[in-house]
Amino acid sequence: MLDVAPTVPELPFITVEGIDGCGKTTQAALMVDALKRAGYAVLALREPGGVALSEKIRALLLDPAYTEMSDTCELLLYEAARAQLVHERIAPALAAGTVVVCDRFFDSTTCYQAFGGGLDRAVVGRANELAVGACRPRLTLVFDIDPVDAAARAASRDGSPDRMEAKGLAYQERVAAGFRALAAEEPDRVKLIDAARPVEAVFADVCTCLRGAGFALAEA
Ligand code: TMP
Repeated sequence: MLDVAPTVPELPFITVEGIDGCGKTTQAALMVDALKRAGYAVLALREPGGVALSEKIRALLLDPAYTEMSDTCELLLYEAARAQLVHERIAPALAAGTVVVCDRFFDSTTCYQAFGGGLDRAVVGRANELAVGACRPRLTLVFDIDPVDAAARAASRDGSPDRMEAKGLAYQERVAAGFRALAAEEPDRVKLIDAARPVEAVFADVCTCLRGAGFALAEA
């Protein structure tokens, strides 16, 4: 920890994204540690979830028993979970100058529910805006990996697939293509990182992106 607090970039909101099994949660934990060591106050959250109401909604969304869930119901549950997390945790933390690192955010909805699930992208965009208001990430790291490799990682990690994982490989391929499209559309905010490499090599790229976004991390 430094004696003097480091400069906090404007709206210090970072999100990590990618298909299931891409390794983003490991990288988010490493990033949070590095930011804390550099003297930043950091709040680490995950989506869907992060607060009591949103964790309840997460359980509904991932329960494989709800095979009847409509695409619109799914979209609105993700947005409801997000709106509550923004209200309770993200907006107050950003207002206090705390760095917020969120494991998934509205880009997941664009990629899963629009690219993956086929909902209209403009409709999903408006739902995202309603849920987040002004709380938009300044930096989004997308961990890019072949969906076949990612499925193998996810399978070795969990037991049986949750309701989203059960949507299958073609769905994950569309989601991965969505994340690549977002990185091409918004290159200043959305950074694509090759996640098929060892954890340390991936994390070196993460640190480069953080420094590029104005975070004062020590050189490796
Ligand atoms: P996780 O496994 O990364 O915690 O995410 C839970 C699942 O929810 C994952 O399959 C991705 C999915 N998801 C969406 O489909 N839309 C969203 O908006 C979010 C945040 C997650």
